[in-house]
Amino acid sequence: MTTVVIGTQWGDEGKGKIVDVYAADAEYTVRFHGGNNAGHTVVIGDNKFSFHLVPSGIFQPKTTAVIAGGVIVDLEVLTDEMKLLQKAGVRLTRKLIISPRCHIILPYHKALDHAYENARGKNKLGTTGRGIGPAYSDKVSYNGLRLYELMRWDLFVEKFTFQAKIKNKILATFDVPAINIRKELQKLKAFRTIIAPYVRDVYPILIKAIQKKQSIVLEGAHGSMLDTDWSPYPFSTGSNTLVGAVNIGAGIPIKHIDTVVGVVKAYLSRVGGGPVPTELTDKTADLIRERGKEYGTTTGRPRRIGWLDLEAVKFSCEINSVTKIAITKLDILTGLKKINVCIGYKLRGKSISYSSCGYEELACLTPVYKTFHGWSEDITNIRKFNQLPKDCQVYLRFIEKFLGIPLCIVSVGAERSANIYL
Ligand code: GDP
Ligand code: IMO
Ligand code: MG
Repeated sequence: MTTVVIGTQWGDEGKGKIVDVYAADAEYTVRFHGGNNAGHTVVIGDNKFSFHLVPSGIFQPKTTAVIAGGVIVDLEVLTDEMKLLQKAGVRLTRKLIISPRCHIILPYHKALDHAYENARGKNKLGTTGRGIGPAYSDKVSYNGLRLYELMRWDLFVEKFTFQAKIKNKILATFDVPAINIRKELQKLKAFRTIIAPYVRDVYPILIKAIQKKQSIVLEGAHGSMLDTDWSPYPFSTGSNTLVGAVNIGAGIPIKHIDTVVGVVKAYLSRVGGGPVPTELTDKTADLIRERGKEYGTTTGRPRRIGWLDLEAVKFSCEINSVTKIAITKLDILTGLKKINVCIGYKLRGKSISYSSCGYEELACLTPVYKTFHGWSEDITNIRKFNQLPKDCQVYLRFIEKFLGIPLCIVSVGAERSANIYL
């Protein structure tokens, strides 16, 4: 009844598309961590929608979208997204719930994110610039402000003013202009009016749904390799991206998780800095980037491209207890003569596992590849596994066998219906 969809790589695996598929039968679709550094795409016919904070299942008639307490929200992004959804005909009053526990990304968080990145110079991390790291660091240092405070306006004004004055001093050390406290409070008050009707305690709603045996889909964001603890830190994001974050971020007891769908892109992409062992920098990378439209959903940055790294994905499947695999963007590999898959790492001649590597090891190890024959037939209209070209089937069955986890979906196009179900 409870399904978690998790990205097994460095993000942008196609989680939004897969969440939308599962949300068709779910009473609730829930974001449980991260912020609007996420960009999840759902394509319905000719319409493409990019979700940053609202759960990607909201277009499904049956589902209610829940932004649970583990998510950090930028109110401007959230209210813009709500407007777009209303314009697209979604009646939000019945469809959206936001937890008062959500921390707020404030203007000084975004300013600090940029200030730190600029100061890092050549060691810049390549964050999305959305204020994620500074907002999460305020959360754990008891300096955060939540929707809970926003709903109590006088309290919020007092706390915001206190924090903003301190942050302005820090910004001054970076030679960055101060935040205008009065103007920002005006904007925040306007956002507060828009979102207030949606702010409700989420925990009893989800626990009741579990008791009533209703279906819940939990929408992982970013990717397992960006987890703040299990990434090659600091080439990370600010939240825990692994399945454990479901309990912390949405309050759902772990024993109620029935299915974990690991989303695996048929190759890999990475936005931002940090080592990527199987990275490609040749014409194949350009071809995949253009064909796969591998430009950031949130920032528009060109994504780095690499061969599928099963050494890393295997770790991701283990640590997340992945029970089913959804492979995406298989169609993008059509036409390649040879396709490589990384099946292990060697460092100075010896095997080394992904989990034993820090960023220095990942940057200098040698991937061990297995090479597959490509296929040339267009697969975007195929809806049955046994109609896929033989070489394509061999590639998929190898991934399934290597990971020891059954495939459930093979996605062969961006459109919602372009799936092969197994
Ligand atoms: P997410 O962050 O994991 O939700 O992924 P993004 O939405 O950032 O990036 C995935 C991109 O690939 C989006 O533009 C999707 O519309 C698109 N996409 C997803 N699955 C497929 C697929 O199987 N084939 C193709 N061609 N595009 C896909
Ligand atoms: P979705 O959910 C791809 C990456 C950034 C950067 C690092 C830190 O769409 O898959 P941050 O702004 O989080 O402090 O940046 O994390 N990153 C993502 N890359 N997809 C994402 O989300 C990402 N979320 C964060 O590019 O390298
Ligand atoms: Mg994305």
